Amino acid sequence: MEKDAPILIIGAGTFGLSTAYHFAQAGHSNITVLEKSTAVPPADSAGNDLNKIIRAEYEDPFYAELALQAMAAWKTNPLLAPYYHETGYLLANSAAAPDKAKKTLLKSLGSIQQHPAFRGKISPIERREDITKVAPVFDGPMEWKGYFNRFAGYAQSADALTAMYSACCALGVKFRTGDAVKSLIYTLDKDSSRRCTGAVTESGKTYTAVLIVLTLGAALATVLPEVGRQVAANAWSVAHIQLTPAEAEKLRGIPVTYARDLGFFFEPDRRTNLLKLCPSGAGYTNFCSSSEGGPSVPPDFNAFITPADEDKIRRLLRETLPGLAERPLINKHLCWCADTADSEYIIDFVPETSNNSLIVASGDSGHAFKMLPIVGQWSVELARAGKQETKRWRWKAGQDAGGDVSWRIGRPVDLRDVPLAVRSNM
Ligand SMILES: Cc1cc2nc3c(=O)[nH]c(=O)nc-3n(C[C@H](O)[C@H](O)[C@H](O)COP(=O)(O)OP(=O)(O)OC[C@H]3O[C@@H](n4cnc5c(N)ncnc54)[C@H](O)[C@@H]3O)c2cc1C
Ligand SMILES: *[C@@H]1O[C@H](CO)[C@@H](O)[C@H](O)[C@H]1NC(C)=O
Ligand SMILES: *[C@@H]1O[C@H](CO)[C@@H](O)[C@H](O)[C@H]1NC(C)=O
Repeated sequence: MEKDAPILIIGAGTFGLSTAYHFAQAGHSNITVLEKSTAVPPADSAGNDLNKIIRAEYEDPFYAELALQAMAAWKTNPLLAPYYHETGYLLANSAAAPDKAKKTLLKSLGSIQQHPAFRGKISPIERREDITKVAPVFDGPMEWKGYFNRFAGYAQSADALTAMYSACCALGVKFRTGDAVKSLIYTLDKDSSRRCTGAVTESGKTYTAVLIVLTLGAALATVLPEVGRQVAANAWSVAHIQLTPAEAEKLRGIPVTYARDLGFFFEPDRRTNLLKLCPSGAGYTNFCSSSEGGPSVPPDFNAFITPADEDKIRRLLRETLPGLAERPLINKHLCWCADTADSEYIIDFVPETSNNSLIVASGDSGHAFKMLPIVGQWSVELARAGKQETKRWRWKAGQDAGGDVSWRIGRPVDLRDVPLAVRSNM
């Protein structure tokens, strides 16, 4: 592809920013990114909040290796390094955890126990003292079993996205925000194959390009209906507690703490003193807003969490920091990801679209923020190679992401089963 050929990237979230960055780094000079939200990082990006876990343990060594690559970049790329904090990662199950949670934990421990990158970095958690050794400020009962991994931590996610955005701007990438893409434009070539040539926005603007990359996250099916149910929008809850400066100071440097059956939290944000908490579970789908048999897509209103998730967060706090367990939860919202049936990403050309004109980079399955430094490179490589050689990242025709996912506990709840009073702003 010519370096000055126009490239269109649709969606300026985690995948989109990294994709723009890597194409620009590779010397492409006419890149435009279209984003529905009015600013970058976008309000609707799953990556746009205070912090995300950065860890390399995976059931599957393929992703463990990618995560190690990404972590190396988090530590050494001057653009991102200021936002990576290696506080360690405490992963455990509470006494009440179901067997599935215990099995998943053992698998993820298995993936790193023998790996040279983690030598001397892993210690078992068998009793309360093993926890208070690494997090002396935790004063709850914590009858947990698991392990502590020193070679992991978190990234300040919104700040990292902002850094990538600035780098893109400096490399000449153009951003057009506040105007959602409504549909793609296709043209029929002489051999009657369909080629994607651009996109039209809600306000009626037309953008043309030789290569179009869809990085729409959970909203992919709204612009590319033929993706069908191979991706399903799936959401998790996020909530915060406002700490005083003194309270935040006490929690400075705590590890990312994750009870698989309850949820996780991070060191308080250094700027706002907000403590971010996420309950675990299979999350929420929104199949009800599309037609029968259609995909799950994100709803418009997301500033809520369910009472069941609020209860899980409070149980997590009673176990670890009981003094905070009854505090008000604020900035509550659902965060939407694009799940696939097997949690594999999709980085591929859209079939039956000619001249390699349309790429999908999605299917993050809730585990892709850590890949921010490298995820965009995969579309650059795909465009260069002309074919996806990595089988697991191919288009997943006929797959249905509405089913059970091996490493999640329980089944997602569809929003139709959440009372309207909870999921509206009344
Ligand atoms: C609660 C929660 C916790 C998580 N924790 C972690 C973690 O600890 N570690 C980790 O690695 N990952 C984590 N993730 C997952 C991570 O956030 C996602 O994998 C990643 O952000 C997905 O990136 P994306 O670019 O595919 O989607 P997004 O970042 O959501 O980007 C999609 C973009 O497309 C835009 N868009 C949508 N429709 C249109 C349209 N029609 N036109 C133009 N633009 C449009 C959206 O506004 C958005 O900006 C978590 C996710 C959630 C929900
Ligand atoms: C096909 O794509 C190449 C770049 O990959 C471009 O140079 C060429 O013009 C495209 N062909 C058509 C018919 O658009
Ligand atoms: C970039 O591509 C667009 C779409 O084809 C075109 O209108 C514009 O002139 C190009 N800009 C440059 C600097 O080449």
